[in-house]
Amino acid sequence: MDDTVLSGLAKIESDLIMDDKMNGKIENLVSVKDITKTFGPVIAVDGLSFEVKKGEIFGLLGPNGAGKTTTIKLILGLLEPDKGDISVFDLHPGKDEIKVKERIGYVSEEPLIFKSMSPKQLFNFIASIRNLKEEETLEKLQYYLESLEAEEYYEKLIATLSRGTKQKIQVIASLLHEPDLLILDEPLTGLDAKSSKVVKEIIELHTERGGSVIFSTHILEIAEEICDRICIIDHGKSIAMGTVEELSKMADKAGANLEDIFLKLTHEDESVNRIISNLRKMKRNNHSGASK
Ligand SMILES: Nc1ncnc2c1ncn2[C@@H]1O[C@H](COP(=O)(O)OP(=O)(O)OP(=O)(O)O)[C@@H](O)[C@H]1O
Ligand SMILES: [Mg+2]
Repeated sequence: MDDTVLSGLAKIESDLIMDDKMNGKIENLVSVKDITKTFGPVIAVDGLSFEVKKGEIFGLLGPNGAGKTTTIKLILGLLEPDKGDISVFDLHPGKDEIKVKERIGYVSEEPLIFKSMSPKQLFNFIASIRNLKEEETLEKLQYYLESLEAEEYYEKLIATLSRGTKQKIQVIASLLHEPDLLILDEPLTGLDAKSSKVVKEIIELHTERGGSVIFSTHILEIAEEICDRICIIDHGKSIAMGTVEELSKMADKAGANLEDIFLKLTHEDESVNRIISNLRKMKRNNHSGASK
């Protein structure tokens, strides 16, 4: 694939965004403008801008270390950007922390931290700090626990649960207060195929009732399947943004498919080939060593 392909993408993308703006289609829940975040010498997020519209599933797609989790933590107000502006529901996530968090459900990439509690105690705790109605909450809990086949773990210690079950409990905890915005950092990690399907369905239902989702993943197929719009990030920078159709069109105009573009953009094509060739070399050396 030619390198001019990549430079053409930015132009095509900005034309598409202009079309939307002219048609007055944009109603934003989240607005991220030119944000940068560094950790010492590491530039984790580098001039990133995007918007998340009402009712959409917005994907942050990028390889390990691309800056997805840092971006999410900035939106949640858990980190302060060095530069740039973020607004969530027209509020400042750092200054209006409580108001913003009231309307967000968050699934972090780390397993649950409340290890010395049972899911039951955790849900009770969430219900009390969020002032949730007991009967409604119990009904929702039963529905989610049943859907995700996690009822038997309700009173077990979180520390003793499997990774996938902890993830299910995190997903349920993020939904109890019916947030307007779900922020899901690699939410399908550790889930089996059946549970992944249920979580995808839960996400779909959430958007059907007007909620929005920010969904991070490093897997192109998952982003393609789930997200309405995707921002591909690499080294903290936005490389291409649009619907799967728009991204595919951009790729097509550039004479490639989306997978080629993703691999090329994230430099995985070269590094993967190099790693595979080194692995093969190592294996060959080991074999020749073993046969001596
Ligand atoms: N607290 C921190 N201190 C120092 N460096 C950090 C910190 N948090 C993140 N980084 C660095 O910032 C960069 C982006 O990290 P981030 O966790 O945002 O990536 P990611 O896209 O979520 O990756 P992954 O797919 O592995 O979850 C990485 O180089 C990471 O090492
Ligand atoms: Mg991450």
